[in-house]
This record gives sequence, structure tokens and C-alpha cells, in this order.
Amino acid sequence: MLIMKGVSKIFRTDLVETHALRNVDLHIKAGEFVSITGPSGSGKTTFLNLAGLLESFEEGDYFLDGENVRGLSDNALSDLRNQKIGFIFQSFNLLPDLPLFDNVDVPLRYRGLSAKDRKQRIEEALELVGLGSRMKHLPTQLSGGQQQRVAIARAIAGKPRFLLADEPTGNLDSQMARQVMELLEQINQQGTTIVMVTHDDELARRAGRNIQIFDGQVSDVDQNPSDALVKRA
Ligand SMILES: Nc1ncnc2c1ncn2[C@@H]1O[C@H](COP(=O)(O)OP(=O)(O)OP(=O)(O)O)[C@@H](O)[C@H]1O
Ligand SMILES: [Mg+2]
Repeated sequence: MLIMKGVSKIFRTDLVETHALRNVDLHIKAGEFVSITGPSGSGKTTFLNLAGLLESFEEGDYFLDGENVRGLSDNALSDLRNQKIGFIFQSFNLLPDLPLFDNVDVPLRYRGLSAKDRKQRIEEALELVGLGSRMKHLPTQLSGGQQQRVAIARAIAGKPRFLLADEPTGNLDSQMARQVMELLEQINQQGTTIVMVTHDDELARRAGRNIQIFDGQVSDVDQNPSDALVKRA
């Protein structure tokens, strides 16, 4: 699970301080599918980057699967990230000169798996997103939706406990967006906790729980009534 207590993030430049996250308290349980919505510039990507250990924070505590990540060294943080977290970036972040197979292999290379295990995981992940027959293609030979699916394959090939997705359907038409959502739901049903930033209200509602961020502040709208009762009890 993922627990934040009083977490704040301030970006400082010579001229301005931006309070990107203010005093965030949050508890995301294992197996949840959480959507995050909020206006542009409200702190959604900052939250995901922080949750995914890509960004530091100055105040508060963050427990990932029970471990307080505050004060861990950069090496310890990247180990933890590699073991537990898969990322889907809004801009895909695929390497244009590498075939799909090798793109999906990138995060696996840091995980000490044998070449045989890696090959199996890569093939499984690309099959799951419907691109099993295109492993030797380059990203530039694919449509936007197909590239998005490669990014998903890359994020799930490591079988992460947490999948953090920044507008995974932002560049897709509504039919393709629904297909990607179905894929994420399938991955969630297999036990991966998912946190997804989206501007799409319909997709946000489909997730089990919606968290809204306004001006760096989180407000939690729990859509599961039985869960809310447990919380109040
Ligand atoms: N590296 C940075 N340096 C300085 N300020 C930053 C940096 N990254 C983000 N910010 C600021 O922090 C605030 C939150 O940005 P963030 O990218 O988290 O917004 P967002 O909710 O993801 O927006 P969008 O929906 O447009 O993607 C913004 O005011 C932004 O300008
Ligand atoms: Mg963003």
C-alpha cells in the first residue's frame, strides 16, 4: 500500500516558489484502482512522480509497502522503484531507434533477471496489449494508440505491484481509450494497484475511487460505499 502523511513539494526557482503539493494525506490500499483528476497545473504529475520515487519532497512521510522512503539513498530509491513500480508516461517515452521488444526490455535490464525470463515477460506483455506480432517493429512504425500500448507493456512486464499512469489515454480516440482502460482493469484484476491521472470523467468514474487535486491539495472522493463505512468506523 501507499501512505502519505503531510507531504509537501515546493519547486523553487530564482524568482518564484511553487507549492505543487500541500500537506497531502493519503492512503491507497493494495489492489485499488484510483483515478486522479484536477485542473492543469494542480499537481497531478508531481504527485505521481513523488509516489513513483522520481521526485523528492521536503516535508512529510511517505510509506511504500510499509517502508518509509524518506531519507533513503538514491540507489535504494531506484532499487525500490525498479522492484515495485511501473510507469506509463503521458508522452510514452519510447526509444525511437529500438524495436518494441528492446523498448519493453529497458526496465527489466535493471532487475537481475535471466535473458530467458526477460524474453518470456516481454513476449507475454506485448501479447497482452495485442502487439505480439510486431516485436521487431520500431515505435515510429506504429500508430499513437499502438505506441501507448507498448508503453503499457513496458510498464507491466516487470510485474510491478504499483502501476502509475499519467493520462494513459490522453492521446487516444474514445474507442481506443476504452480499450486501454479495459486493459488496465484486467491488469488491476490480476492484483496490480493502479493510480491513473486522467482528464476523462467517464474513465475517472470507472475507477473504484477518485481523488481530486486542486492547487496542490488532495480531496478524496471514495466511490465505494462499503469502503467509506469502514473508513468512518
Ligand atoms: N520542475 C519544475 N520546476 C518548477 N515548477 C514545476 C516543475 N514541475 C512542475 N512545476 C509546477 O508545479 C505545479 C504542478 O505541476 P504538475 O505538472 O504537477 O501539474 P499537473 O496537474 O500534472 O498539470 P497538467 O494537467 O497540465 O499535466 C505547476 O504550477 C507547475 O508549473
Ligand atoms: Mg501533468
